[in-house]
Parts: sequence; structure tokens; C-alpha cells
Amino acid sequence: MKEFWNDSFNKYKTMWGFEPSHSAVLAKDLFVDREIKDILIPGIGYGRNAQIFIENDIRVTGIEISETAIALAKEHYGNKMPVFQGSVTEMPFDSHLYDGIFCYGLLYLLNNEQRKKMINDCYNQLQEGGWMIFSVISKNSPNYGKGKEIGKDTFEIGKGGQLFFYDIDAIQEEFKEYGLLDYFEIDEQTNAITKQATFKFLMVICRKECKNESIKSESDCTPNYLSAVFNKMLSYTH
Ligand SMILES: C[S@@+](CC[C@H](N)C(=O)[O-])C[C@H]1O[C@@H](n2cnc3c(N)ncnc32)[C@H](O)[C@@H]1O
Repeated sequence: MKEFWNDSFNKYKTMWGFEPSHSAVLAKDLFVDREIKDILIPGIGYGRNAQIFIENDIRVTGIEISETAIALAKEHYGNKMPVFQGSVTEMPFDSHLYDGIFCYGLLYLLNNEQRKKMINDCYNQLQEGGWMIFSVISKNSPNYGKGKEIGKDTFEIGKGGQLFFYDIDAIQEEFKEYGLLDYFEIDEQTNAITKQATFKFLMVICRKECKNESIKSESDCTPNYLSAVFNKMLSYTH
């Protein structure tokens, strides 16, 4: 995996541009609204999704397997965020508990056991009442079914890489024990001319149980509250 990503970043550099993903914009809205100040971004790449949090006074720590991506992040964004170099399969990299975790486009590259471990490891690195947001590829994405099928909803990419496509059942199965609150489909990489999304993702919102009720009100977790926070999603989804 490391070689695959180093090769890709060497060849295509800042391949997704410098704008944050739609998911990162929505996550920023939620984090700002919840006064989250300290987040972890596993699979941070060259940092395009980190800037929107930093600009909103949120401290960002990253995890990234590719040294090339980390070098690109330093080149373009300086030393604004610490990044652990290594695989998320080796989490945790520190014993710090974060207010929030945002992970765009990495979980689905892992196999079943690795995904389970990563979700559990992320949950363990959250403060009580902390939020975690994963954006994962949806089975409704136009690239579903491309390439050799090597398992249920799993297709080969590149040299030894794989993509697991999520549907609602998979979301519920993998996140049900991790404070799953909400999920919805979101367009990513919308073509400016055709207005068609290159990819369809599912954005998954979880919140760690508040054992200490004084930390935050449970009413924060109601679907009505989430709908209000995510009303902007209409501009990104059908
Ligand atoms: C689809 S890209 C998304 C990058 C970034 N989140 C973005 O949207 O700009 C996946 C990222 O995860 C990194 N990655 C892949 N496997 C990893 C692993 N096992 N541990 C840590 N990072 C990994 C890749 O190097 C790449 O930067």
C-alpha cells in the first residue's frame, strides 16, 4: 500500500487539487458548531482537507502512510500540523484523546479485519462526547463494479490495492457499536461543467457515548439537531 501511494503522489503530486472535499466542508460545520478544537485526520494525504479546519481554529493531527504525501503537505502548507508517518493498521500512534476525528477516503481501502480495527481504534481515541466522521465510497458510485471483484462489494485497484463499496447495511453493521447517529449520500468531485459527481460517498456520523452527562447535552444527538447542522448537504446530494 505504501509503495502504491508513494508512486501515485510522486507521479500525480497534488492530484485532487487544493479545495476541500464536500464532506470536509460539512464536517467543519459540525465541528465548529460543537466547538471542537482538536481533531485527528487518518489518511491526511497532502493536507487539502486539513486547511478548512485549521482556518477555523481547529488543531489538526494527521496519520499518513506515504512520506511523499507528507512532504507535499509540508511544501504547500508548512508545519502547521503534526503528522504521524505510518499505517492506520498500527494505530494508536499516541495516547491523546481527540474531540473529533475526520477520515475521508481511506477506510474503504482496508480489508474487513483492518476496517474493524481502525473504527475501534478511532473510537478509542475520542473523548467522551467526541464526534467521528467517516466518508466512504458508496455502492451507488459510478465506479462501482469496475475492475476484478475479489470479495463481496470489493474490487481490485492498482497493484494489490482494493476498494470496498459501502451500502446502508454495511454502514450499520460496521458502525452500530460505535455511536452511529446518521449517514447520508454525498456527491464528491462534482464536474463543474457537467454537474455530475465523479463519485458518490456515504458520510457517516458517530458520537462517543457521554457517560458524564455534564459534558454535553444528549439532545445534541437527536436526528433533528443533526438535520439542522446538515441542511447544507442538500446542495451536495440528490
Ligand atoms: C483516497 S486518499 C485520500 C487523501 C485525503 N484524505 C484527501 O482526501 O485529500 C487515501 C489516503 O490515505 C493514505 N493511506 C492509504 N492507506 C493508508 C494506511 N494504511 N494508513 C495510513 N494512510 C493510508 C494514502 O496515502 C492517501 O493519502
